Amino acid sequence: MSNRPDSSPLVLGFLLGVGATWLAAHLWTYRNGPKKSKQLKSEIVDGVEGLIGNTPLMRIKSLSEATGCEILAKAEFLNPAGSPKDRVALSMLQYAESESILFPHTDSCIFEGTVGSTGISLATIARAKGYKCHIVMPDDQAQEKYQLLERLGAEVEKVRPVGIVDKNHFVNLAKRRAMEYGKDDPDAKKTGFFADQFENLSNFEAHYNHTGPEIYRQTGGKVDVFIAGAGTGGTIAGITRYLKPRIPDLLVVLSDPQGSGLYNKVKYNTFYSHLEAEGTRKRHQVDTVVEGVGINRLTQNFNMINGDSWVDDAISVTDQEAVSMSRYLVNKDGLFIGSSSAINCVAAVRMARQLGPGHTIVTILCDSGQRHLTKFWNDEYIANANLSTEAPDNLSFIQ
Ligand SMILES: *[C@@H]1O[C@H](CO)[C@@H](O)[C@H](O)[C@H]1NC(C)=O
Ligand SMILES: *[C@@H]1O[C@H](CO)[C@@H](O)[C@H](O)[C@H]1NC(C)=O
Ligand SMILES: *[C@@H]1O[C@H](CO)[C@@H](O)[C@H](O)[C@H]1NC(C)=O
Ligand SMILES: *[C@@H]1O[C@H](CO)[C@@H](O)[C@H](O)[C@H]1NC(C)=O
Repeated sequence: MSNRPDSSPLVLGFLLGVGATWLAAHLWTYRNGPKKSKQLKSEIVDGVEGLIGNTPLMRIKSLSEATGCEILAKAEFLNPAGSPKDRVALSMLQYAESESILFPHTDSCIFEGTVGSTGISLATIARAKGYKCHIVMPDDQAQEKYQLLERLGAEVEKVRPVGIVDKNHFVNLAKRRAMEYGKDDPDAKKTGFFADQFENLSNFEAHYNHTGPEIYRQTGGKVDVFIAGAGTGGTIAGITRYLKPRIPDLLVVLSDPQGSGLYNKVKYNTFYSHLEAEGTRKRHQVDTVVEGVGINRLTQNFNMINGDSWVDDAISVTDQEAVSMSRYLVNKDGLFIGSSSAINCVAAVRMARQLGPGHTIVTILCDSGQRHLTKFWNDEYIANANLSTEAPDNLSFIQ
């Protein structure tokens, strides 16, 4: 036995000391928060409007790896009301304010004819800015869109889908409602504003001033192909007019759902649609399970890129390709997207195959699948349209 004094009380004391210090430090942290990083004023956005725009550009891994191209998508579904229409709505309302057509916190009311997304964006920003909102919509859209609009405090008027020449077409009716609103009321501030996303060029400007420059900055101008669909045409027109003069070799490609006339307009300068000619048209707008893109007339916004070969090519995407792409992306990437985004992704893969590996292709992810749960993402609805809902394991479903 050693007669050295026992050292264990010392060791124990030391360990207790270390433990107590560690505990105190952690208690301090939990009470006072982690070491503060300097908060920059510009990191704070002002209200809901501040959340609009500056969306990330996301590399879609599965499609990029399968094609050898960089397939990049502007994640517009991350806007606060869930689509690029937030930019359009904000821009149209700023225009109306600058022209003294709308007065906040009065009876001023915004009117719009829309298949959904623009209405949801307008209703959101209307609440944020203190306006009323009246939305006229065809009655065959996904149920959750009406519910969302009503929750956002908008008045929703559903109408039977009819052709644009009919005075009760949802766009024409919204315009009439805006003109009639407050007409016989002595209150000068009871004004109606017809937002008119199809014809009002504030739509185009939102994308020319913001989305286009964002894509240019995010890619450093290194883009070979830009692909987008068109409903009003504001997105493709605004971005194309910004990017093309700055990227001379850029190819601009329109992605179009089956039954839409724009494909033929771009390819052959006529609005002839094959499906319509066969008399198989089931709906009055465009015959497809895809919502929000495809149109059979030329709008002022699309007109900004009509002629002068702004658009180099068009790709027509079948409903089956769109459905299969949506099921593929949720399986491979955890990316849950709506129908117009699926169209864009199919077109991106076609262009990647056509050009070969090594190219950079930019497109748009417009909205989330959540807004399409009762239609495009409802397997029963898709099966009734005679389409397969199976998730493909590879991209061979694209023709
Ligand atoms: C936007 O709409 C307003 C009201 O309908 C119209 O007076 C104006 O000319 C439009 N502005 C643009 C830039 O198209
Ligand atoms: C776009 O930019 C122009 C020029 O700076 C400006 O006059 C216009 O109001 C802007 N429009 C939108 C919608 O941001
Ligand atoms: C689906 O196919 C069946 C049988 O071929 C046909 O009767 C029906 O009209 C089709 N439905 C649609 C929406 O095309
Ligand atoms: C691609 O997937 C389909 C089913 O989705 C399958 O039948 C086919 O064999 C696959 N092809 C390859 C090359 O893996």
